Amino acid sequence: MEVVIVEDSHTGSRLVGGAIAQLLTDKPEAVLGLATGSTPLGVYDDLARRHEQDDLSFAKARGFALDEYVGLPRNHPESYRSVLQREIVGRVNFAPDAVQSPNGWAEDIPAACAEYEAAIRAAGGIDLQLLGVGTDGHIGFNEPTSSLASLTRVKSLTEQTRIDNARFFDDDVSAVPHHVVTQGVGTIRRARHPVLLAWGEGKADAVAATVEGPVSAMVPSSALQLIEHATVVVDEGAASKLRLRDYYQTVYTNKPDWQGL
Ligand code: GLP
Repeated sequence: MEVVIVEDSHTGSRLVGGAIAQLLTDKPEAVLGLATGSTPLGVYDDLARRHEQDDLSFAKARGFALDEYVGLPRNHPESYRSVLQREIVGRVNFAPDAVQSPNGWAEDIPAACAEYEAAIRAAGGIDLQLLGVGTDGHIGFNEPTSSLASLTRVKSLTEQTRIDNARFFDDDVSAVPHHVVTQGVGTIRRARHPVLLAWGEGKADAVAATVEGPVSAMVPSSALQLIEHATVVVDEGAASKLRLRDYYQTVYTNKPDWQGL
């Protein structure tokens, strides 16, 4: 796993935006895994800027959302489908229907989850999967004790995650759904290059457990240790509990440019 410590979230977002732009240049039909939450918003701003200013094209690219709530109206402003439409899909030139989300509205949710897995496979798998991390180490909505082999399925949120996400629902915890559909840890492990981002001291424990802790279902993000090419991009606050912080910095400073992220 590579750990990149950046000065601030702005620098980190531009770095990751640059890696996505390079991927789309090398492989215009790339498949992107799209995360929600506040962490990747700077990356989406950076991509929208590159689309505007540098003609970065998403015309042949595909996208798969990481997760979705169950029980919100489809057009609710906080459904992850709406969030992704607002933050990235509607700001660049994806082809119509090139970005799919897990279907939290299906009558038969297990069947819809199986279809979602099949759609990812049919697209050739995810090239670059953006990830944030919850304070408890959840990725997507894979809460602690999620199987490290799990695929897209319905999950129940922990009370802490519902409290954390209440800020998107006018601070009303009761408005945060209990259930979600999420790519599994096993789905995420199939991505060719997961890139996990974390900003601020509030994520320092989760980042330390992700990178330096044992691989454990109690910290689903620690499954990134099992992936051949995984990158963790953190600001100084989120890096503050890493024991080998100086080592990661030396490695990154001396990394040859041609390697990219
Ligand atoms: C939610 C999302 C995750 C995200 C996490 C952290 O639970 N399902 O994908 O990583 O929140 O959110 P934030 O980036 O706002 O800290």
